[in-house]
Amino acid sequence: MSWNLFLDIVFAIIVLGAIPVIISLEYYCHKTKVSAVSSVPWMRKAVLKCLKEQLCNHRADSPQGEGLVIYEMGSGWGPLAVDAAKAFPKSKVIGLEFSPIPVWFSRIRGKLFGHKNLTFKRADFFEEDLRDADVILLYMLESILVKLKPKFEEELKPGTLIISNTFKIKGWEPVAVEEVMKKPLELNVYIYKVPAG
Ligand SMILES: C[S@@+](CC[C@H](N)C(=O)[O-])C[C@H]1O[C@@H](n2cnc3c(N)ncnc32)[C@H](O)[C@@H]1O
Repeated sequence: MSWNLFLDIVFAIIVLGAIPVIISLEYYCHKTKVSAVSSVPWMRKAVLKCLKEQLCNHRADSPQGEGLVIYEMGSGWGPLAVDAAKAFPKSKVIGLEFSPIPVWFSRIRGKLFGHKNLTFKRADFFEEDLRDADVILLYMLESILVKLKPKFEEELKPGTLIISNTFKIKGWEPVAVEEVMKKPLELNVYIYKVPAG
């Protein structure tokens, strides 16, 4: 076989493989109204820093984050959940993601990094029971956060921390705001805590 034919075959395989991937990503983006774009590394770092500080200051039972159940709502390609599993090795991290290709990719990513405390579940987070959550991590548009709010109010136990990258939960007052960038974009991490009663 000539090199020319070999390269034609490789090109055809890549193109044919990419088409179903693109169709699937577009389909789920349309269905969930949010694309599977990953958070940037410095925002992930800020989210985990905020979580560590909050646990240290407010969770006398778990100041270093031991024995917690941490959910990431819409874990995309998995970078934040992997970082969280590494930062809190004695806690359970569960990434919930609806779009199948990012879930498969995340599972491979999780295996490569070998964090035994990390699970990626293909699920619609609106259908999941969050009663066991201690921490909720979010990087989600405000239009979706508004829809999640009643679920949080119904299911989350008092003291649950909700840490939201960039987007506010309308109608809730954050207990703290971490300013990550002021210009050219205003980028904050918003920290909420489910009140008692
Ligand atoms: C902006 S991405 C966030 C990626 C990830 N959290 C990160 O920080 O890199 C939002 C993700 O939420 C997922 N998503 C949106 N609605 C969902 C739902 N109802 N259930 C599960 N995942 C959902 C989308 O498929 C998308 O991958």
